[in-house]
This record gives sequence, C-alpha cells and structure tokens, in this order.
Amino acid sequence: MRPRVLSGIQPTGSPHIGNYLGALKNWAKIQYDYDSIYCIVDLHAVTVYQDPAELRAKIEELAGVLLAIGIDPTHSSLIVQSSVAAHAELAWMLTCVTPIGWLERMTQFKAKSEAQESIGSGVMQYPVLMAADILIYQAAIVPVGDDQSQHLELTRDIAQRFNSLYGDTFVVPETRLPTVGARIMGLDEPEKKMSKSAAGSGHAVSLLDPPDVIRKKILRATTDSNPAVDFETAGAGVRNLLAIFQAFTESTDEALRTQFSGMRYGDLKKTVAEAVIAALEPIQKRYREITAETGYIARVLEEGAEKVRPIANDTVKKAKRAMGLYTP
Ligand code: AMP
Ligand code: TRP
Repeated sequence: MRPRVLSGIQPTGSPHIGNYLGALKNWAKIQYDYDSIYCIVDLHAVTVYQDPAELRAKIEELAGVLLAIGIDPTHSSLIVQSSVAAHAELAWMLTCVTPIGWLERMTQFKAKSEAQESIGSGVMQYPVLMAADILIYQAAIVPVGDDQSQHLELTRDIAQRFNSLYGDTFVVPETRLPTVGARIMGLDEPEKKMSKSAAGSGHAVSLLDPPDVIRKKILRATTDSNPAVDFETAGAGVRNLLAIFQAFTESTDEALRTQFSGMRYGDLKKTVAEAVIAALEPIQKRYREITAETGYIARVLEEGAEKVRPIANDTVKKAKRAMGLYTP
C-alpha cells in the first residue's frame, strides 16, 4: 500500500495565495504518489464563533476551490471533517493523554488567548483535534505551511506518548514543507503572515480575486526605502514579493537574481502581479465550471466521506482496544 498523506484547511475567510503556495499546491502535486486525504476542517472553524449560514456556504466554496486547484477526486478523498464522526471520538481519547502544559506552549494558542479576554476551551483543544485528523488515517506525511510546524511536532509527541502508554497504535507522521513559499507574508504588513482573518483589503490576494483587484493589491504592497531590488539588503516586503513570484513560477534562485537584480520596485510589482494573475486564471476558470454543475461538489464530499469512514473507524477501534475501552 502507498504511504498516506493527510492535510486540512479551515473553511473560514477566503483561501489566499499563502494557503496555495504553503500547502494546497503541494496537495495537488503529491496526490499522484500517495494515498491522499484532504479535509475541510469545519470543527476547527467553530473553535471561534462562525455565522452558521456563512460557515455552511464557506464549506462548499472551499470544496470548489480545492477541486479547482487540482485536487482530483479520482486520486484523493476530499472530505468535510464533521461528516466523519470518528475524528471527534479519537480527539477525546488523545485529549486524555495530552498534558495541559503541552497545549499552553502552542504559539497559536498563546496569540489567540492573549488577543481575547475570554476564549472557548476548544481553542486550547484545537491541536489535539488536529492530531486526531492525522493519526486517525495513520498518515505518514502531512503537507502544510510553516505556521503548522509546531502543531505537527505536538501531533508526533501525542502519537509517541499514546504508543508508549498503550502499545504501538499510531504511525508517527512527518511534516512536509514547501522549499519556497512556506510562509507568505501580508502584502500590507510584511512582518505578519498572510492570514484569512486579517482585516484590510490590501492584506491578502484571494484565489478568487479578479485580475484588476490582484493588480491593485500587489501594486500597493509595502516595500522599503530602496528604489530597486538589491538581494543583499531587500526588506521583508520585497523578499515576500520575490518569494511569491518564485513559488508561482518555480524559478531557480539564480534565475530570480538574474531577472530581478536592479529592477525598480514599480516594475517588480507589475511583474509579480502579472505572474499571479496568469497562475490563478486557470484555477478561477475551473472554479466557475465546477460550481456551475449542480450537485457535483456535494457528491464528491459524500463519496470522499464514504471512502474514508472505514479507515477512521478501524483506527478508533484499535485505539479503544489498546486503551481497554469497551469494544463489543
Ligand atoms: P488555514 O488557512 O489556517 O486553515 O491553513 C491552511 C494551510 O495553509 C495550512 O497548511 C497552513 O500552514 C497554510 N498557510 C496558511 N497561511 C499561510 C501563509 N501565510 N503562508 C504559507 N502557508 C500558509
Ligand atoms: N490547523 C490547520 C490550520 O489552521 C488545519 C488543520 C486541521 C490541519 N487539521 C489538520 C492541517 C490536519 C494538517 C493536518 O492550518
């Protein structure tokens, strides 16, 4: 059997070029070499309040985007997390082997809990549910962006702790980061990672933004006080634009230097904008085709869930047996 790949994305906000370059592009690429499961993690989304009608719509929209970027349902299973109930069941068992201190150390948890006065306990449990998503399919490889590395380390720790307490039960997964684009920064604030939830229309390029909007956002991107590209002294904003270009076009470091050294920032931005527009055009065209076909997305999600449920149920049974829980 081919090794298994699993990854997930939250159905909140609009998927952007950071999601694409950090994770989704890799998902589409490796699906032909591995047994792949890709998960729209709606249970993670509700760790903070979501408007119910909007959440429902975002799940379908995201499924459409994932199909449009090239997730091929004849090679991969595309699922919605909450439609495979066993994820939540395993999450409870893993919660019971996870020390609170491990969760308090998570930088995303610290950032979220510092930003708000009162948070739901789901925000703290979030990485345990993520571990369940991965371990339930015995995934060997998890393609994600750099911001998920710490959660993946925790997943490995939880798997190892469970295995040592109760006997070998879970595959300990490996993190797979892209070489370029693992951390795309906000266009307006290049010190912060591009995020779905960050306010400000100049922050992120959404995968479904029309060309004129993409152009406007990139032309307004924050740079630095140099007039032109100098690879030795370029600030975070310029380095980010170069990374976006390199990741979309898959240029080598050498080709990038030759093309951009000494280029004025106005021209750099125009070149990057046109490369992004060209790369997103076929994705947007496929998105329109996919969403025009009534019932297609729902069918893909249903078939995906049906295919993976037996795998998930098997692992839960194995974990229950290992722990001595009742399995008739
Ligand atoms: P999320 O939007 O948080 O559900 O993230 C989905 C995937 O996109 C995860 O694998 C993240 O690591 C990745 N990702 C999110 N934001 C970025 C970013 N700014 N740069 C690179 N990868 C990202
Ligand atoms: N926490 C991830 C994020 O915000 C999403 C996620 C949930 C995930 N379950 C996962 C990623 C399992 C990889 C594997 O990006």
